[in-house]
Amino acid sequence: MPGVKDFARHPRGAVQRARADAWLLRRAMKLAFQKRIQGDTVEQFHRVYYDGALFGDTRASTYWLGVRVDKCPLDLWVYQELLFENRPDVIVEAGTATGGSALFFACMLDLIGGPGRVVTIDVDDQFDRPTHDRIQYLHGSSVADETLAQVAEIVGGRPAMVFLDSDHTRDHVLAELRAYRSLVQPGGYLIVEDTNLNGRPVSPEFGPGPGEAVDAFLAEDPCFARDTGCEKFYLTFNPGGYLQRTR
Ligand SMILES: C[S@@+](CC[C@H](N)C(=O)[O-])C[C@H]1O[C@@H](n2cnc3c(N)ncnc32)[C@H](O)[C@@H]1O
Repeated sequence: MPGVKDFARHPRGAVQRARADAWLLRRAMKLAFQKRIQGDTVEQFHRVYYDGALFGDTRASTYWLGVRVDKCPLDLWVYQELLFENRPDVIVEAGTATGGSALFFACMLDLIGGPGRVVTIDVDDQFDRPTHDRIQYLHGSSVADETLAQVAEIVGGRPAMVFLDSDHTRDHVLAELRAYRSLVQPGGYLIVEDTNLNGRPVSPEFGPGPGEAVDAFLAEDPCFARDTGCEKFYLTFNPGGYLQRTR
């Protein structure tokens, strides 16, 4: 009679098969669990959290070192992980607003060390924004030729991570995706924010937005794929919006 050790020596032995079955069972249970909570609890909480801003709560009341940042803190944590793993030389952000996210990025680069820079673009230069040695503010539309030339010169072919958080209409985001994709090197990330708009699951009245732009972009560019692993905290304002360049 063969013992456990004999099974273990053979890749197709009973012990391996039992382990594989247990792994498949765990995976099936996880998928069923996710499907159930995704269908109700997570989506409901997503709407409650997002719309809390109407009453001055949640994203309307989120600050990094005293500066307003219009993000879900769970996404900021994912950004920290991606920045640590990828260590881009330049972070390009479309949509500065008060500069809270740019300051967050700069502080992450301080902690990580190295030469990283933040270049952030906005059509509006009304805000009193934070100053930081790593941050460069650009004034103009994220898709204007002049802006794109300035960004290309600053990046200078170095590895970049791109965050799109400006005008959230589908056509604008798609134009940004086409304009900024070449800045991201294989393995790097291009993050499309607020893909939750237009009923995905918030603001059903919004109309075609970032989520629809990502769908169109992925259909035309085989070099990028969604990294759904970045949605591991379940609540994200960027569902399907974490794009990794795969080649
Ligand atoms: C959602 S806010 C950015 C929030 C900021 N990234 C944060 O996390 O705190 C969007 C910003 O995009 C800017 N914006 C709108 N259209 C733009 C465009 N075509 N180019 C650049 N910025 C634009 C707006 O002026 C606004 O400040």
